[in-house]
Amino acid sequence: MMGQPTELTLSPSATRAVVDESSCVAQEDRFGPVDERRTVTKVGGPRYRPWLEVAAPSDYLENIANSATGRSYKAYAKSLLNIERGTVIADLGCGAGVDLPAYAEAAGPTGQVIGIDHDHALLGHARKNSAHLPTVSITEADIHCLPLESDSVDRIHIDRVLQHVDVPAVVLAEAARTLHHEGRIVCVEPDWATLTIDHRDAALSRSYTHHVVEQVIRNATIGRALPRMLGDAGFTVHAIAPFTAHWTDALEADKVLGFRDVCEHAVADGTLPAAQTQIWINDLMAGPQFFASLSLFVVSAHIESA
Ligand SMILES: C[S@@+](CC[C@H](N)C(=O)[O-])C[C@H]1O[C@@H](n2cnc3c(N)ncnc32)[C@H](O)[C@@H]1O
Repeated sequence: MMGQPTELTLSPSATRAVVDESSCVAQEDRFGPVDERRTVTKVGGPRYRPWLEVAAPSDYLENIANSATGRSYKAYAKSLLNIERGTVIADLGCGAGVDLPAYAEAAGPTGQVIGIDHDHALLGHARKNSAHLPTVSITEADIHCLPLESDSVDRIHIDRVLQHVDVPAVVLAEAARTLHHEGRIVCVEPDWATLTIDHRDAALSRSYTHHVVEQVIRNATIGRALPRMLGDAGFTVHAIAPFTAHWTDALEADKVLGFRDVCEHAVADGTLPAAQTQIWINDLMAGPQFFASLSLFVVSAHIESA
């Protein structure tokens, strides 16, 4: 069923500043000067955006977790984690904590579930959702510098987080440091170059995907790179599974992909042509048929025993 078309007027003059606030001042030496890292906000440079303006971030994360693809890939990721009674598991970039209750249940009363994120507001939701679970603890930190002892964790879960971080290799090195020698990591990341949106103007659909890859998501093609990056960090990969989400309802797709919001910014920046983009969006929202898809990759790996 198609959703109701919604008017969106795209104007090249409607520029809005989008500032990426993510930086870890304590890690200045490792990542380079903070001011340099903030040049992502300079005019004409990439405008990486951790959140699309389509819903409150906590609602956005819960909607994805409850979608058909979300339920399916998260169940698979959890099976790969193989959580047992007494397992200590860290969820890096836990957001609103959508996965924490299921992990706490699997790890039982002797287990420990540690949710880590740098977003104070999202952690408020995570705390609220797991307040009744004594084995869950929530920590506010930058995952480039984990507040965990070396060899202290049995499992690490990272779900759609490396796409946004400054230096994914540093996060994976931290994961390798904190996992004990029989530890296991499960990462899930999209590959935004796999984004397809069907439209007669296939060139604009291609330009749109190109724009998302180059300007909207910081590490947009990390999905395909996960096996290599895990190998580089000292892990042995033992499972790789693609999951493809697809949408046939434009409004539902927009709630996840935020293409109206992305187009508005792209036209404001002069990255996409205003009139052509307006027609593209109007057709997508009003057309009798809609199709879009995006692939995510679930990759499981372990540290080689010494
Ligand atoms: C797309 S959300 C995924 C949340 C959660 N894993 C889930 O599946 O619902 C990405 C999360 O990564 C967090 N994040 C991004 N960079 C981070 C960093 N450097 N340190 C800690 N958290 C980070 C964001 O705050 C956000 O909660």
